[in-house]
Amino acid sequence: MAEPVTLTGKEQTEEDRALQEELRQRGPLPVHIAIIMDGNGRWAQQQGKRRVVGHYEGVESVRDITEACAQLGIPYLTLYTFSTENWQRPASEVNALMQLLVKTIRREKKALLENGVQLRVIGDVAQLPAVCQKELAQAVRETARNDRLVLTLALSYSGRWEIVQAAQKLARKVQEGALQPDDIDEQTFAAALPSAELPDPDLLIRTGGEFRVSNFLLWQIAYTELYITDIYWPAFRRRQLYEAIRSYQNRERRFGRIDASDTNGVR
Ligand code: IPE
Ligand code: IPE
Ligand code: MG
Repeated sequence: MAEPVTLTGKEQTEEDRALQEELRQRGPLPVHIAIIMDGNGRWAQQQGKRRVVGHYEGVESVRDITEACAQLGIPYLTLYTFSTENWQRPASEVNALMQLLVKTIRREKKALLENGVQLRVIGDVAQLPAVCQKELAQAVRETARNDRLVLTLALSYSGRWEIVQAAQKLARKVQEGALQPDDIDEQTFAAALPSAELPDPDLLIRTGGEFRVSNFLLWQIAYTELYITDIYWPAFRRRQLYEAIRSYQNRERRFGRIDASDTNGVR
């Protein structure tokens, strides 16, 4: 039995252990869960608090969901943390988010290390303040050998940005004569994406109730199962995650084919 995971600092209850076991028995768990963590501002405003309070509480959800995924044995969790478009928010909110990022990485690094969590980042990180880049690079380096859960933060990220990176990389190879245009297929394209090492997400969760993908993992979600909940991110904890996983387990993933048992008389 692997060492227990403790990111929240709370001991896992027997009841929670049983719920996780039930989920494992119920059917295959997603290998890769991606989450659009939306609704922090509305959660705070609903309580008459400043938007930033929602971001603080959102960090608690990150800890709880990361811990639950590691305990469940889900190998990949990717969190949409800050989009390319989020740079257009007021400077005060952007600064508060960047400070929160630095503070959180500093505070959680030890727990990530001790709990087998490997931290990765995808996005145009050169746009982030130097101190953020430094803290992130250090945490990524120090946790690189962990293999219980790969936690990827999408920062200064957009799906279109990522696709453009791949296009530029392939164009350079063609220019150098190392690649023929006709040799570019889905595999070579996917391999040129900055997130190439991540498998495509099986389940994409969006909190905060909006029915859109907001420029997240556009290439990778071709056949991802979508789960949208009205719950705001700061209120989304492991119970809500289990509900999303149950919904995922009830789906039939056909990938464009037909149900094996339903041939409608045609063989
Ligand atoms: C998500 O919550 C966090 C980030 C985008 C950084 P929001 O800040 O978008 O909160 P709402 O959607 O305005 O409530
Ligand atoms: C998506 O949330 C980006 C992140 C969660 C980081 P937004 O709040 O930025 O998305 P829109 O504006 O509702 O599409
Ligand atoms: Mg939002």
